[in-house]
Amino acid sequence: MRVFLQRALLTAMGIFGLLALALAGIYFSTRARQTKIYNLPAESVALPTDAASLEAGRRIFGYRGCLACHGDHLEGKVYLSNPALGEVIASNLTRGAGGIGAAYRDEDWVRAIRRGLRPDGTPLLFMPATEFYFLSDGDLGKIIAFIKSVPPLINYLPPSTISLTGRVVMTLVKEITFIPAEMIPQNAPRPSAPAAGITPQYGEYLSLSCKVCHGPTLSGGRIPAFPDDYPWPANLTTSEERPLPYWTFDGFKKILRAGVTCHSRQIDPQYMPWTSYQYFSDDEIAAVWAYLQAAPPVPFGSR
Ligand code: HEC
Ligand code: HEC
Repeated sequence: MRVFLQRALLTAMGIFGLLALALAGIYFSTRARQTKIYNLPAESVALPTDAASLEAGRRIFGYRGCLACHGDHLEGKVYLSNPALGEVIASNLTRGAGGIGAAYRDEDWVRAIRRGLRPDGTPLLFMPATEFYFLSDGDLGKIIAFIKSVPPLINYLPPSTISLTGRVVMTLVKEITFIPAEMIPQNAPRPSAPAAGITPQYGEYLSLSCKVCHGPTLSGGRIPAFPDDYPWPANLTTSEERPLPYWTFDGFKKILRAGVTCHSRQIDPQYMPWTSYQYFSDDEIAAVWAYLQAAPPVPFGSR
């Protein structure tokens, strides 16, 4: 009996030991990905100073979702705290104490927003630079000029962290990473952005974030890896069973501006971020509309 117990204990210790070793391995390999230095040449964009450009920068900061994460006054906040993921803490972008604004040089803003990298070349966590990589020099310049124009606010925040579960997931699932810099083709030539206008091309440029939830083909349906109680995004294509033909342009505008559907239902901005899209101008909504009309029809949920 005693020998049996001793053996069982040794086996258990062996299993736990292996498990601890595997977890330690995962911790250190993901840690190495976090401390990797991406050596890229400094990039700069022209920063406008006129009032119209600063106002445009404020709107772009709104509809690209920066405001929703970094706070109404850019003071930063704990955006999400989830044991499966970690702590998503959006930095204080102002020049106030606890903020990064005072230390950032112009090239640092470009590196962070377009490349997902800190001034020292190490990658930022969670910051969706994969989308902002596509921003034109003009839009990026306006955003940075706007950020630099806001009053300083004192707000100290701890850094973002990836939980152990998050580290296991990003080690085992190749498609998932919480380090956006890893998904950006850092050494390839950057694609050029389409000219502003009421065109499907410019509409697509404005709709990059829609695809995160409505899917790469805009067909809607369940978002992979999202909680079960998350409502299913609508099919935004002109496919047969989708609602788009029932929305008039004015109705569509009301969805993006006020989150009210053509059935007068209020959409929760926690699921469909119309509080960001309310910053689109009429022309920008018209461009998104033109893009949706031109997108090929796809059956609901075929991502
Ligand atoms: C999903 C939420 C989210 C959105 C949207 C977002 N950010 Fe961030 N951002 C973050 C987080 C989280 C960090 C901090 C990352 C870290 O600590 O590693 C960050 C960091 C930054 C930094 C670097 C700050 C530092 O600590 O060095 C800048 C600059 C920045 N964001 C600007 C922007 C701009 C401009 C936009 C819109 C174009 C934007 N962010 C949109 C979450 C977001
Ligand atoms: C964070 C996820 C997310 C993003 C990003 C997002 N949506 Fe949605 N969207 C949803 C969800 C979820 C619903 C369903 C909400 C509901 O029915 O309560 C929805 C519903 C809609 C609807 C249908 C409203 C109706 O009539 O029922 C439209 C139109 C729409 N989204 C357009 C857009 C456009 C255009 C964009 C980009 C500019 C976008 N969405 C970005 C999640 C998202």
